[in-house]
Amino acid sequence: MSRTVYVNGQYLPEEDATVSIFDRGFLMADAVYEVTSVLDGKLIAYDGHVERLWRSLKELDMAAPCTPEELLDIHRELVARNGIVEGLVYLQVSRGSDGDRDFVFPSSDTKPTLVLFTQNKPGLADSPAAKKGAKIISIDDIRWGRRDIKTVQLLYPSMGKMMAKAAGCDDAWLVEDGHVTEGTSNNAYIVKGGKIITRPLSNDILHGITREAVLRFAAEAQMEVEERLFTIEEAKEADEAFTTSASAFVMPVVEIDGVALGDGTPGSVAPRLREIYIDEMRKSAI
Ligand code: PDD
Repeated sequence: MSRTVYVNGQYLPEEDATVSIFDRGFLMADAVYEVTSVLDGKLIAYDGHVERLWRSLKELDMAAPCTPEELLDIHRELVARNGIVEGLVYLQVSRGSDGDRDFVFPSSDTKPTLVLFTQNKPGLADSPAAKKGAKIISIDDIRWGRRDIKTVQLLYPSMGKMMAKAAGCDDAWLVEDGHVTEGTSNNAYIVKGGKIITRPLSNDILHGITREAVLRFAAEAQMEVEERLFTIEEAKEADEAFTTSASAFVMPVVEIDGVALGDGTPGSVAPRLREIYIDEMRKSAI
């Protein structure tokens, strides 16, 4: 069945929704995005995603396509029209187009392009993948230096997932100067002696909305958290590891570069954090 999607002020069947071939999102990856999860038909961690979207727009000197209130209405309308109970809402804002290709930004009165669509994901919370845990490989982080801005420049992360797939694994962690930055589409953590270790925020990683919530819940549950760099060798010797993202919540990691962590099962910290995260998100969903 065809989805109803949103493009520049209109709700349309997906096959009727179009964007200009001159759109800078298409030609230049000059666009930013957000992914918000839906549980019980409601948006989770929504405020954080909108705040980060406005930050991304500001960092790139891009105009906001509408008000935050209008954006919330669009999210809710799409969830309702598509009957999403568990799933995702994808949102993208590009700098739009003034009808040609040019490296120079178009004039500031050019209208940004706003696109949103839903993805139906039954079983998002009760995920078999999370019970099994993910096997990951490590690869060089060769992305640009402003990973804190959520741009649609996702070619290298896509290639990373393909490299993982080719190696019979689920995902890749990115390594720069020997230290893990983050996963292809998630933040990365290791657990050693009960302590949760993750890279501090900087321009080197995306400031994950799930990361912020999970670290808060970990502290509230009296778990020790240390924000510092860690190497891929240290990760392979960790008791546990996991990733966080809006689309996969807390995902245990059971193997890195062929080395099993602990007994090769998800361990105790990551599954516990996953449970707390999902419970808390259900409570605060809007
Ligand atoms: N990815 N780091 C990277 C590089 C990401 O792409 C993401 C999210 C995260 C986690 O951020 P958050 O917790 O706010 O989702 C970290 C989304 C889910 C995606 O690209 O689909």
